[in-house]
Amino acid sequence: MAESVVSDKHQINRIKMHVQGLDENIQGGVPEGNITLVSGAAGTMKSSVCFNVLYHEAVAGKNSIYISLEQSAESLVNHMMNMDYDMRRINLVIIKELAELKTRMAELQDQTLGSMIIVDMGTIRKEIRDVNTDNNKSWLNVIKNVVKKIHTDAGCPLFVLDSLSALYVLSRFENPRIELFYIFEYLRDMRITSFLISEMPLDGSKYSEYEIEDFLADGIITIRLTPFRRQVVREIAVVKMRATACNNDIFSLEFRNGQFQALYGGQNPLL
Ligand SMILES: Nc1ncnc2c1ncn2[C@@H]1O[C@H](COP(=O)(O)OP(=O)(O)OP(=O)(O)O)[C@@H](O)[C@H]1O
Ligand SMILES: [Mg+2]
Repeated sequence: MAESVVSDKHQINRIKMHVQGLDENIQGGVPEGNITLVSGAAGTMKSSVCFNVLYHEAVAGKNSIYISLEQSAESLVNHMMNMDYDMRRINLVIIKELAELKTRMAELQDQTLGSMIIVDMGTIRKEIRDVNTDNNKSWLNVIKNVVKKIHTDAGCPLFVLDSLSALYVLSRFENPRIELFYIFEYLRDMRITSFLISEMPLDGSKYSEYEIEDFLADGIITIRLTPFRRQVVREIAVVKMRATACNNDIFSLEFRNGQFQALYGGQNPLL
């Protein structure tokens, strides 16, 4: 059975976003097992915010899965190195071939550091040309099986999908309401705390492609770039977070000294 009822609110375990100033406003973090949409336009640091969670959780010894559908693992890791994350503190595993999955997972048995397993789906896709991409279901099934296998073999409590929008390009959904319902149920059954990155239009008119995701998800965190005269301010807000008394105010999001910070009373774009 996927979910269970707690007898006391303090029994709800939470995963920190590791964003100073934000965790304090969501009772310490995202409830374990929740599925959160991380929505934002291009370049708003969606991937970085998600990577940041997995990185800090790996430093604390937790294993995680990061499925990158479009951005190569090299590009992602180089970006994070440029942000000064010390990769020596975690065990970074990059999967570029599905055939090596089994052996790479077996190697984790002797690992003392927390592992972040990045699956470079872009490279895998280029290599497996025989998976018929016209068949809507095939790539979705490949991704589901990879997540399940890593989750079972490496005991990963955390998962990032980068991005839902790229998944829609790969697997055209005939009936999004039904298909998305089953994807969310699949994740809930695994009890894996998930962050699904969702590309938002520039005008911020919606958080997700079909808008059903907003209702299926337990939480929505949005990031946007807001012009203020000639300056652009990066802002973060928690739109919803089930089982959490959260502050829905808009904070400015900054990355300083290797740390994400949500600042209250940052520049108000309307002033
Ligand atoms: N210290 C830093 N090093 C590198 N990039 C930084 C740094 N601080 C801020 N950035 C910004 O991070 C942005 C990219 O972050 P990221 O890839 O996480 O965004 P994204 O929302 O996932 O983008 P995309 O829509 O391309 O997937 C760049 O636009 C870059 O300017
Ligand atoms: Mg990204």
